[in-house]
Order: sequence, then structure tokens, then C-alpha cells
Amino acid sequence: MADANKPNGGGNGAGGRGASNGEKNGLVGQVTTAVKEDIQALKTDIPAKAKQQLEGLKDPTKTQVYTSIFRHKHDDTPRNRALGVLSNVFLHLHPAKINRDAVRYSYTWGMGGITFYLFIILTYTGVLLMFYYHPSKVQAFRDVLYLEHDVPFGKILRNMHRWAAHLMVIAVWLHMFRVFLTGSYKKPREFNWNIGVLLLVFTLLLSFTGYLLPDDQLGFWAVTVGTNMARATPLLGHEGPFGAQLGMTPYNDVRFGLLGGSIVDANALLRSYIWHCIGIPIVASVLMIVHFWRVRKDGGISGPAPVMLTEEADKPRRGPKAAGE
Ligand code: HEM
Repeated sequence: MADANKPNGGGNGAGGRGASNGEKNGLVGQVTTAVKEDIQALKTDIPAKAKQQLEGLKDPTKTQVYTSIFRHKHDDTPRNRALGVLSNVFLHLHPAKINRDAVRYSYTWGMGGITFYLFIILTYTGVLLMFYYHPSKVQAFRDVLYLEHDVPFGKILRNMHRWAAHLMVIAVWLHMFRVFLTGSYKKPREFNWNIGVLLLVFTLLLSFTGYLLPDDQLGFWAVTVGTNMARATPLLGHEGPFGAQLGMTPYNDVRFGLLGGSIVDANALLRSYIWHCIGIPIVASVLMIVHFWRVRKDGGISGPAPVMLTEEADKPRRGPKAAGE
């Protein structure tokens, strides 16, 4: 097998063909061995993990979920107390050290930060838009026209809000994609990945509820289609699995609750407005605070092992470990 992998000097003759067959065999052999190893590892891993989970039930502080949320032991030693302060975002806002390779734009794409800045722009322009907008059937669309044509800088204000909203949705997807590509959802960042998933949902909900507010045809039909899907919600929608059995009708199901009625009308506009301007931004802000706090708690942004200059690598190490402790 090993010999078959060796290049045999090239050429177009039988020797050349033999080598490429050998290479194929070698590759197949390698893949088969790798698959066998994976299966073997699964056979030993699964029982070990199951055992670990069972142990965890006896002592929840040893489970992966607990240790992904609480990082430190609470021993009362000077080292542990110092660690407690240095890793606490309230007691020490800036991290004690960062991995310079992890903060490079080529690694993070800056997408989490960009998503956050877009959220700030949206909050700021959104508050300004509230000075001109009334969430009523009579006024909503007129207010939008007024903003577009008469309010000084109204057009740019509205478009800043609209474009930032589109960009935020794109940026949050790209951020999630980068986190996935760099494997940053893995231990110890599983908890933060879950917070991220919630943030994604709330970002999409912000976008969706904002869509209805101009009360134009585009928004009206988008929300009609979107909320029609809610009819099929399991248990809670009147057309969803077990909905009818639980007594759901078009007049008491989850869609009715979202719209404040059975059609997209004045109540739906008001509900969208309140969710869009108050409910969802508050929840999203709290989740963002938790998200940033977790980035810090999980040891900063994940990243490749720090690149060291040769002279740095050769330097004798300082600190307790170097002293043999
Ligand atoms: C409103 C939405 C979000 C905001 C403002 C946000 C913001 C951030 C920021 C500023 C960082 C620091 C690193 C970086 O910039 O890449 C970060 C890291 C992280 N985010 Fe988000 N994020 C959001 C949504 C999400 C989503 C949808 C996910 C995944 C489902 C996610 C998962 C993570 C994880 C696991 C990290 C740690 C990554 C690492 O250590 O490399 N975030 N986020």
C-alpha cells in the first residue's frame, strides 16, 4: 500500500498508469482506514459520553452545560480571586490579554461588530423616525410620504434605517457563517452559539415586523403571507397538527394573537409597531449584552494558536509554570 503511493517517475507508459492506480488504491485504503477508525472511536465514545451524562445527573456541576456557563471553581485562593476579578467584565472591562491573531479581520471578518454597529444605527434612526410616524391606518402611509418628500433629511433618514436593516440581516448571517467555519460554536462556546441563534431569530423578527409599518402593498402582502404560515403552527395554529383537536379556530389561534384579529388590519399594524419599537429591541439588547459578556467569559474570541516570533518562542517562560509549579 505504501509503495503504491510513491510516484514512479512519471511518463506515459504502463508504469505511469500503474502508479495512478496505485495512488487510487492508496487513497481508497486511507479513506477505509479513516472510516474504520471513526467507527471504532464512535463505538468507544458513545458509551463514554452516555456514562458521563449519567454521572452528570448525580453532580450537575460537572455537566458540559454547567461548565459552559460557570467557568471557575470558587476556591478561596489568591490565584482564584485574581482570576475571578480579571475575567469579570464588570470588575475588569478590558480583558487582561487577547490573542492578536483572533482579532484580525481576516479571521472574524468583523461581522459581529458590524452587526452591532448596524443595530446602533437602527436604534438611533428608528427613534428619530418615531417623531414623524403614527401607527394608524389613516396616517402610516401618509407619514412615510411626508418623510420622503417634505421632512428635511427625511428621505435619507428613512433610507438609512431601511438599508441598515437589510445590511444587518446579511451581516448576522455572515457572522454566523464565519463562526461556523472557524468551529467557534464548539466547547466552551456552545452556550454563546445558542444565544447567537436567538439573536438571529430576533434580528429576523425585527426585520419582519418593520416591513408592515409603511402600510404599503409590499408590507401588507409580505405580512399576510408570513402570518398565514402561523396557521400551520403545531398545537397553536388552527390548521396545524393537533390544532383542531385543541379547539383552535381562526379566531383564537396564534395567528389571531399575532394580528390582533383574523385579517391584517389596524390592530396588526399597531401590534407590529409595538413589537418592532419596544418588545423585540429590548429582548435583543439584553441578549447582545449576554452575548458580548460570554465572548469575554469564554476566553475572548476563539482563534488560531498565537503566532510567535522565533525570538519570542525561544525566550524562557516566566510565571508559575516556568518555575515548575
Ligand atoms: C444581533 C446579532 C449578533 C451580534 C450583534 C453579534 C456580535 C458578536 C461579536 C461582536 C462577536 C465578537 C467576534 C466577532 O466580531 O466575530 C461575536 C462572537 C460570537 N458570536 Fe455573535 N453576534 C450576533 C449573532 C450571532 C449568531 C446568529 C451566532 C450564531 C448562531 C453568533 C455566535 C457567536 C459566537 C459563537 C461567538 C464567539 C466566536 C469566537 O469566539 O470566535 N452570534 N458576536
